[in-house]
Amino acid sequence: MATRHTQPRRQPSRKGSMADIPKDLLQEIKRLEDLFTVDTAKLKSITSHFQSELAKGLSKEGGSIPMNPTWCMGFPTGHETGTFLALDMGGTNLRVCEINLPEEKGEFDIIQSKYRMPEELKTGTADELWGYIADCLQQFIEYHHEGEKLDKLPLGFTFSYPATQDFIDHGVLQRWTKGFDIDGVEGKDVVPPFEAALEERGVPIKLTALINDTTGTLIASAYTDSEMRIGCIFGTGCNAAYMEHCGDIPKLEHMKLDPNQEIAINCEWGAFDNEHKILPRTQYDIIIDKDSPRPGQQSFEKMVAGLYLGELFRLVLLDLHEVAHVKIFEGQDVSSLKKPYSLDASFLSDIENDPFENLSETHDRFEKALGIKCTKPELELIRRLAELIGTRSARLSACGVAAICLKKNYKTCHVGADGSVFNKYPHFKARGAQALKEILDWDKGRDGKALGKGHDPVEILPAEDGSGVGAALIAALTLKRVQEGKVMGIRDPEGMLKGTKAADPKSKEVAPESKK
Ligand code: GLC
Repeated sequence: MATRHTQPRRQPSRKGSMADIPKDLLQEIKRLEDLFTVDTAKLKSITSHFQSELAKGLSKEGGSIPMNPTWCMGFPTGHETGTFLALDMGGTNLRVCEINLPEEKGEFDIIQSKYRMPEELKTGTADELWGYIADCLQQFIEYHHEGEKLDKLPLGFTFSYPATQDFIDHGVLQRWTKGFDIDGVEGKDVVPPFEAALEERGVPIKLTALINDTTGTLIASAYTDSEMRIGCIFGTGCNAAYMEHCGDIPKLEHMKLDPNQEIAINCEWGAFDNEHKILPRTQYDIIIDKDSPRPGQQSFEKMVAGLYLGELFRLVLLDLHEVAHVKIFEGQDVSSLKKPYSLDASFLSDIENDPFENLSETHDRFEKALGIKCTKPELELIRRLAELIGTRSARLSACGVAAICLKKNYKTCHVGADGSVFNKYPHFKARGAQALKEILDWDKGRDGKALGKGHDPVEILPAEDGSGVGAALIAALTLKRVQEGKVMGIRDPEGMLKGTKAADPKSKEVAPESKK
């Protein structure tokens, strides 16, 4: 039976016409292309430096990339069971989940609530932060377990910032990233104040694992896909986690761990090239860094992650309006464009998604959001600029993935990815796959088939819910270790068993997939 297409097939990129663009604007577009394009040779040299920086992070001397051991030891089997809470402290929301891992392999049931993270919290005090989080957890428990007499519920807390961990139930915040700037948290263990806030409110929860979103993504994806080797977040921030053998981590040598034991490493690769040796930084990247709450930090992240894409775009446009000899938006009120961080990555996504050759949606978006009426040539420049920024992000991100594959000698594997940029930014996946192909010199796919979806040797695939299921699984794996007496990297094994009813899936019924 013939299939009928109800929608036109999506073209990877529109044709666009530069025919009626004035010469000086064309020159400007060419300059931007030169600035933002990363060719194959550059991708390869970045990847090679990335690979050595990953190794340096694992060395005793250390490097810019923290390469934090997470004490999440090995992959799940798919047979983990029990009921767990998961808490995800994201940039915009706080999500609380209750997850039941039943007997059936690779299955789970989840109920969840979302709470808004008030913007003021991000720059407020530590007490306000922990108090707010504890209040949300209390609300969740009161709502879902009204009147029940509860044992302490084990909790996996997804804290997606660089934290050094001597134990899985411990984490010293190295520095805030992604625009957070809360006093009195950096350099300290975040677990005691968090637990104290729960204690104060009498919330029956025991923190079992503090995890990073990338580790959660890796573990959640591996729960259902045995080819998963790397977990990535391409979202507000950008980072990855993978499994390393303890024997290949010189900075843990003194602990005399079993060299064949695997441990998840949270790379914190956003810090790659903080010493500015290799990344092709533009004047705009330099401004973003200088004006950020933590200049000099997260150099790689500031060039690729969602938080910064809209800002980069804004800075270029403003520069073209003000400084460059070609004045765009001439005679227009650009005061809205002058507001830092007023455009987010979804603004760029929308521009790249504009299906009309005459870019009428982009025209309307500019008028509505910024009060700027663009001419046709300006629209062409805007669209090209969005493509350049989006493409650079995808191609540089691929360098990190390729570097881990090269380090681990993975010829084929799956990479689980999550985050707004990966999930929503147009062509991000295809551009990333193309860059991997160039870096890793693929000419054919798996089993000799043509390259493409399902056949690329290394494929970046949408991940399972890392900060929900991943956090629950890591809590489950940790409790299992405690029960087996394997307490390496666990600070409070006794406390985890005392008063928690963890590993019994029949202990409570949870409604499947109901979203509250
Ligand atoms: C930032 C954080 C890192 C997190 C990433 C993605 O890079 O430092 O911990 O994994 O954002 O959310």
